Amino acid sequence: MLEDALRALPVDKMTPLDASAELARLAIEIAEHDQRYYRDDAPDVTDADYDALRQRNIAIETRFPDLKRKDSPSDRVGATPATGFGKVKHRRPMLSLDNAFNDEDVHEFVARVRKFLGLSEDEKVTLVAEPKIDGLSASVRYEMGKFVLGATRGDGETGEDITANLAQVTDLPKTLSGNNVPDVIEVRGEVYMAKEDFLALNEAQEKAGGKIFANPRNAAAGSLRQLDVSVTAGRKLRFFAYAWGEAPQLPSDTQSGVLQCFKGWGFSLNPLTEVCRDVDGALALYRGVETARAGLPYDIDGVVYKVDRLDWQERLGMVSRAPRWAIAHKFPAEKAQTVINDIDIQVGRTGTLTPVARLEPVTVGGVVVTNATLHNEENIEKLDVRIGDTVIVQRAGDVIPQVLAVVTDKRPENSGAYDFPDHCPICGSAAVREIKDQKTGELEARRRCTGGLICEAQAVERLRHFVSRDAFDIEGLGEKQIAAFWQDGLVRQPSDIFELKNKEIDPPLKEREGWGDLSVSNLFKAIDQRRTIELDRFMYGLGVPHVGQTTARLLAKTYETHERLLEALMKAQDAESDAWLDLVDIDGVGPKVAQTLVAFFAEPHNNDVVNSLVAHLDIQPFDMPEDDSPVSGKTVVFTGTLERMTRAEAKAKAESLGAKVSGSVSKKTDYLVAGPGAGSKLKKAQELGVTALSEDDWLALISS
Ligand code: IVH
Repeated sequence: MLEDALRALPVDKMTPLDASAELARLAIEIAEHDQRYYRDDAPDVTDADYDALRQRNIAIETRFPDLKRKDSPSDRVGATPATGFGKVKHRRPMLSLDNAFNDEDVHEFVARVRKFLGLSEDEKVTLVAEPKIDGLSASVRYEMGKFVLGATRGDGETGEDITANLAQVTDLPKTLSGNNVPDVIEVRGEVYMAKEDFLALNEAQEKAGGKIFANPRNAAAGSLRQLDVSVTAGRKLRFFAYAWGEAPQLPSDTQSGVLQCFKGWGFSLNPLTEVCRDVDGALALYRGVETARAGLPYDIDGVVYKVDRLDWQERLGMVSRAPRWAIAHKFPAEKAQTVINDIDIQVGRTGTLTPVARLEPVTVGGVVVTNATLHNEENIEKLDVRIGDTVIVQRAGDVIPQVLAVVTDKRPENSGAYDFPDHCPICGSAAVREIKDQKTGELEARRRCTGGLICEAQAVERLRHFVSRDAFDIEGLGEKQIAAFWQDGLVRQPSDIFELKNKEIDPPLKEREGWGDLSVSNLFKAIDQRRTIELDRFMYGLGVPHVGQTTARLLAKTYETHERLLEALMKAQDAESDAWLDLVDIDGVGPKVAQTLVAFFAEPHNNDVVNSLVAHLDIQPFDMPEDDSPVSGKTVVFTGTLERMTRAEAKAKAESLGAKVSGSVSKKTDYLVAGPGAGSKLKKAQELGVTALSEDDWLALISS
């Protein structure tokens, strides 16, 4: 059949022969369009025509599933402009690490581990120490020894499906070899680019007029998250394994033992990894690695220590997305001298005025720095920073570069102290420093704009926060789009985002710069997906000062539904109420956070914003971890001496099973776990008829 006639043939009239020919043509055509769209930024078909090709491909595959090609465009992971990368829910969260900045922090880390586990003085805590690779973490899943799925870390809970990209990484085995390969294993580690490959890449990019990367990490990230896999294939990426996710049959009972098995199965381990018998051994390794750092073929930014015994890791568990059994000992920040050309004032989402130093460009640790934060007004006063000063700037990892000190010898004559503005540079409202301590009259370090939501900077920043990754995470709606929508008056508060689809917009969105049929329809799809949202994300997205992800989760966990949470926050305005007491009593909330929360909801404008948003949403009650646990949702109080675990361990375990741990007994308490020496709490529990359990009863209950 002639090609044009074949293209015109309806799918339900096709013979298998037609279908096979058409699928072959579509695979080639779609791949060519992808290249033009993604790699060359020069598409030559409209979004709608492109979509039609993909739809036709899917329709044929649905009717003739056996004819689906190996290189089918519908399987091309991440290469689909219609959806971007697919999402992968991690079966075990991908954790981050707490940091230690000096030897003392490392000693304290081990002391915390000892205390948590209740170890005796003479018990050794063996650590595995290895360089902290400056790349990006990835999780690779193997089933029956075959590489089947690869994902980015994302927000730790959900990452992006980059299987096809990871398949291009030089030292990631496609098939596991050696002994005792388990049925299922998720290996985690760092994807990185060697220094040498980074330099060669930038050289080639420069010749070709392409993007120049600031450092090997950015180059690795930019190369891995490519919708067009052929771009990834052309970049040299490597992988060090250092951890795991789902692993039902672990081959050893120590971290070091598991890593050795990984090596046997074909993974690369960092050759500087060592098992250290104590803190001194770990610190000695740190010094050695620090000396070797400049000469290593890849970038590192510290040394990671992990408790070697896996049963201890298990007991230690995690807190706020970081394991208690590991810590990253960072190398000292890199510093340089340069001149402050100017000081700009930025206004954040909560109205804080942040001074930013505009610097004479200077290279710090391989990266050109042109801006550095001066934190706040008090800091400027303390350092006496002036425009024209020569200053020392410091950069540490991801942290925004900061001005550390002034080199006063180099201060120009006639310079005057910096005059911090007392009005918001964006909306012109008064900017004030609130009183921190009524008794001494001490002021807060920072100045805040009083303009509230009339201040564009605050409103735009709040909206940016609202759509950010850990909040509503609306794909296609980033900082740039939010700022433009604000300018055009299309989005002034969160609920406007959910009304965009039904709004008469002139000119229509798809005709505006940067938008087309496809991107608009994708945006609406992404927005629709977020009409269903988890309670903790919703709460975090509101951007209440001091309410970060951890607090948002605590609130969601405690109140479970948004109705209960919002009602409690309204009632808590009465400082005598049970609602206020309950709020302050949440372990990890406390009076400062409670006060800000109550103040936020006491403001009628904020309430209106929240109510109009809620009307568009289906807010999912908090998903209790290990929902089927017998203590999930129960309130527990521990008292007296616990003999089989430390208090911290007991609390962490109870929380991981979905229980709430409270410090005081009330009629809301479900269980009082009382060890020897229990006194007034036990008495109160008995008076209130609260079930009292021994430590053994409790352990039996949670393992039932
Ligand atoms: S362990 C529970 N080991 O550092 C295990 N992380 O700051 C968590 N990283 O997200 C990670 N080298 O991307 C571990 N040897 C190493 C590492 C390492 C680099 C990264 C990793 C992690 C981040 C946390």
